[in-house]
Amino acid sequence: MIIRLDHVAIAVPDLEASIRRFCADLGLELSGREDVVSALTSTAFLPVPGTRVELVHPLNGQGPIQRFLEKKPQGGLHHLCFATDDIDADVVRLRALGYAFTSDAPTPGAHGSRIIFLHPRGFDGVLIELAQYPEHP
Ligand code: CO
Repeated sequence: MIIRLDHVAIAVPDLEASIRRFCADLGLELSGREDVVSALTSTAFLPVPGTRVELVHPLNGQGPIQRFLEKKPQGGLHHLCFATDDIDADVVRLRALGYAFTSDAPTPGAHGSRIIFLHPRGFDGVLIELAQYPEHP
């Protein structure tokens, strides 16, 4: 079951410049950074009440964010992530409804989460991530 909008992810070509803009200029706070090696993604988290903005940047110039930026060099909205309290049940339920995922099963994400992405063709062109965190094992 979906329990909150966990984050809105923005692909950015210059992570340091983007962090400066969101923090120094817009007024958000940086709560942490994490390189998710399995996803070839470098991330920065900027909490706002109830959710957070996640800036995503290619790790070592590779991976899905690199391919996104090759198509959209200035960056842009990359995905929405909904936290769930039972990712396996949601995958089964959504597959039964005919939705496609970009991988067969959940994989490790940031903060010890398990994540999976729904194919954007099922949701009006928007990439949707589902994440389950250790507090809902
Ligand atoms: Co995400």
